[in-house]
Formats: sequence, C-alpha cells, structure tokens
Amino acid sequence: MKFFVDTADIDAIRELNDLGMVDGVTTNPSIIMKSGRDIKEVTKEICDLVDGPVSSETVALDADGMIAEGLELKKIAENIAIKVPLTWDGLKACKTLTDAGHMVNVTLCFSANQALLAAKAGATFISPFIGRLDDLNLDGMELIADIREIYDNYGFETQILAASIRSANHMSEAAKIGADVATAPPAVIKAMANHVLTDKGLDAFMSDWAKTGQKII
Ligand code: E4P
Repeated sequence: MKFFVDTADIDAIRELNDLGMVDGVTTNPSIIMKSGRDIKEVTKEICDLVDGPVSSETVALDADGMIAEGLELKKIAENIAIKVPLTWDGLKACKTLTDAGHMVNVTLCFSANQALLAAKAGATFISPFIGRLDDLNLDGMELIADIREIYDNYGFETQILAASIRSANHMSEAAKIGADVATAPPAVIKAMANHVLTDKGLDAFMSDWAKTGQKII
C-alpha cells in the first residue's frame, strides 16, 4: 500500500519523505487554510520535495470552472493530481481532464455507487472518506471493502485512496482490504510505530542493562 501524507506542513512531509515513507501528498481547501500559506506557493514547495502525485483541489462547482482551475493548478508541477469533488460536474471534469492525460483524484466519496461512477469517468484515484463515515456511526472500512470488490470484479484501474484516516488501526485495516493508497496525517503515520509492549520491553531492557554496568561505546 502506498502512503500519501494528508498535510501541507512542509517540515512534517520532509521528515517522513527522508524515511522513504511518502509516496505522495494530498491537500484540500481546509488543509491549505490551516497552513496559512498561498496555495500555489506551498503546493510548489511540496511538489519540489516529493516525487509522487500531489493532490491539489479545485474549488469551482461547475465542470468548466473545475477544468480551468485544474489546468491552472497543473501548471505548478508535472506531479500535480487535480482533485475534484464527486458531483455530476466533478465527474464531467474528471472525464475531460483524464482524457487529456492528467491525473485526477475524485474526492468526497461516500458510497460504492459514487466510486463506480468515478471509475467509469476514468479517475486515477477515488478517495472514499473513512473517518467521516465512522463519525456518523457508519462503517467507513466496509466502503473500502465494497469498492475493492467492485473494482476487482471488472478490472477498473482507478486506485482506491483511503482518505479521512484518523487512526493507525485505519491504516492496517485499509492495507488488509487492499486499498492501493492510504492518505493520513503525519501524526497517524508516526503512531503506527507505537506499541505498549515495545515501550514495556524497552524499559525492562534498559533497567537490566544498567545493572550490568557495561557500555557499548
Ligand atoms: C484527503 O484527500 C482528504 O481530503 C482528507 O483525508 C479528509 O480528511 P478529514 O475527514 O480528516 O478532514
């Protein structure tokens, strides 16, 4: 499973990228707002840092507007994936942009039917939102499984990009189901390294080592 980082925090992206943990980046209007930065400036910095796809989201609500904004965002760097919402106009924009050879990430997906339409429209990535479904007491991970089954049934090449990931558990569950990509905030990716038994074991080793009075260096 590829790891995308769901942030515009350059330092956090750099730290994970240096460890080989970053296959791409996703942003959205809320993430850009939180960064306090100009969208084109911060996105260019991210694209210079990361080799993989960097999703940058359009804000127009009509297809022509999304296409125009997408082409403008695409001027930032070759590795931009144009992000459009899963509306009827978003699907039209997706078809036009992918036909023209651009990567398109169709976002705000909350149902298997929406994912089926995005694949038919040639989406490069479909972004089902796990956390926002879980927030409503629905099963976000079940949606990932349903889309995996449907795409595999018909050999759709659209990549399933598990989004709105809130916990380390979401990462392993998405990987078990076979999501192609998961995008998560840096803190969630770092939390994947944590285990209470690792901490406990390390405490015991340190305590026993101190009793030996030895040093390695
Ligand atoms: C990424 O593409 C999505 O915009 C993001 O994962 C949404 O996450 P949230 O539901 O935590 O805002």
